[in-house]
Formats: sequence, structure tokens, C-alpha cells
Amino acid sequence: MNGCIEIAHIGELPKNGMKLIKVGGFEILIVNADGVFYAFDNRCPHMGYPLFFGRLEGHMLTCGFHYAKFDVKSGKPLNKVTEKSLRKMSLKKTGSSLIIYFPHIGYKPP
Ligand code: FES
Repeated sequence: MNGCIEIAHIGELPKNGMKLIKVGGFEILIVNADGVFYAFDNRCPHMGYPLFFGRLEGHMLTCGFHYAKFDVKSGKPLNKVTEKSLRKMSLKKTGSSLIIYFPHIGYKPP
């Protein structure tokens, strides 16, 4: 498919779990927040460190480096560490597969 790729099966992500996916030079963080799946650029909007080393509690993702907190539903920050939001990516659940769409970041998989 052009501009999208299957990146995971939902069984790989337990409830309130996170998974790091590497696709074509991008690191994508997939989270399962209370049964709802979201995808983000793995770089924290504060200083770019990997969000994968953070912690997910319900719908709140805390970066493990300077403890910026984000609402994964909206991507918006929840404390004053940064005013920048998470870079959310389009993710669709199709059956048991998670499909990610790349056009909005200008990337098309080979
Ligand atoms: S890099 Fe994430 S809070 Fe600073």
C-alpha cells in the first residue's frame, strides 16, 4: 500500500503497554492506552530524547528524561516542562493489525 504500512499486531501490545517500531529511519512509539492505540514520533518534543524509556499510566505518558507529561489522546503537554505537543501519527486498527500512515510526514515506504 502506498504511504502506509502494517507495523504491528494488537496482540503484541498489552493493555497499557508500549512498543518501539523502526521503519525506514523513523522510530515510532505505539501505545495501548486502556485499549486504544496511538502512534507517535519517538522523539520527545522537549529535547528529542526517546519517549520509549518513559512510562505510560492510563492516558498519561511521562518522558523518562525530564519528566514532561503528555495526554496521549490529544498529544498535549500536561506540565510545564514543555509547551510542545507529541507528534502524533495516523494509526488505524484493521482486524488484528495496526496500520500507520506516513503521508503527513512526507515519507513513503519503499
Ligand atoms: S527530553 Fe523528554 S522531557 Fe526532556
